[in-house]
Amino acid sequence: MVAPATLLWAGWPHVLRAQQFDPQSLDRVFQEARLAEEIINAGGSNLLKGKIVLTLFYEPSTRTRLSFEFATYHLGGRVLSSEAAREFSSAAKGESIEDTIRVVCRYRPAAIVIRHYQEGAAERAASVAADPRTRGPIPVFNAGDGPGQHPTQALLDAYTVWRHRGTLEGATVAVAGDLLYGRTARSLCYLLAKYPGVSVRMVAPHEVQMKEDLLAYLRRHRVPVTQTGDLAAAVRGADVLYVTRIQKERFGADQETYERVRDAFSVTPQILAGLPSHAIVMHPLPRVEGPRSELPTAVDADPRVVIFDQTEAGMYIRMALLRLTCATDRHRH
Ligand code: CP
Repeated sequence: MVAPATLLWAGWPHVLRAQQFDPQSLDRVFQEARLAEEIINAGGSNLLKGKIVLTLFYEPSTRTRLSFEFATYHLGGRVLSSEAAREFSSAAKGESIEDTIRVVCRYRPAAIVIRHYQEGAAERAASVAADPRTRGPIPVFNAGDGPGQHPTQALLDAYTVWRHRGTLEGATVAVAGDLLYGRTARSLCYLLAKYPGVSVRMVAPHEVQMKEDLLAYLRRHRVPVTQTGDLAAAVRGADVLYVTRIQKERFGADQETYERVRDAFSVTPQILAGLPSHAIVMHPLPRVEGPRSELPTAVDADPRVVIFDQTEAGMYIRMALLRLTCATDRHRH
């Protein structure tokens, strides 16, 4: 792989952490995502002709895996997938991530998309995929690493805000839900911190409030942050309400805490009545189904709820990332 004269983002071609991006590189990715939409409207392209993308998923996924795979096909590439790798790859026999990546790199993938249950797994994969003996570097995309990060989700979330508001600058963002384990909320906050005038309201029960490391990062970037459990108060004057699911699977044996926080809030019509008319409501999905949902389907008809625009944006963002890392024409951009 030939690197462009100026790296498109820190750590290019890998996408491992949201902190790799700044407003300039984000703008580049957003412009490319806009082009991706045009590419699909025009019937697709052959920019990834002859390339094979590997999706290696050790945790369940609907959106991330399928949008990466659709993105590849829309660009004329092909996909090989291990969609239940924790059970059905040699990880079940004790193989390390490093050995798995050493092996698959020999099969010449154009890129590796990895979701793993352990924080740091994607970084470990990238350090192996960067080894010249792999004929690399082969781009590694972190598709979610346990409670760590989900940077491509953050990119699509930021793109959704950009599409609706024209800019992320000056946005007041209420981030609600499971902020302790929610990797999408963490990654989005890292991106928001790069824009001037942004303020963040962390809305969660104290048991699942945001970790100190991210709060310290926001303070270093001079982002005004408040923490509250009061969703009704937090949505007043907000430009974006970003809702996340309380993640039952991350509580492990501590289901008592999960039971205590699971009904912490729900975005009801009454809550939305307090949200400004220009604001948008986002959720990375999946959401909890039924009457105990944090974002009940009853509010989907509200035009401010843009959750399925987000999922569509995810495919454009992933097309953009693939094009900017794997396409044979990338050096022209
Ligand atoms: N938002 C998201 O990561 O969804 P999946 O878990 O379905 O990929």
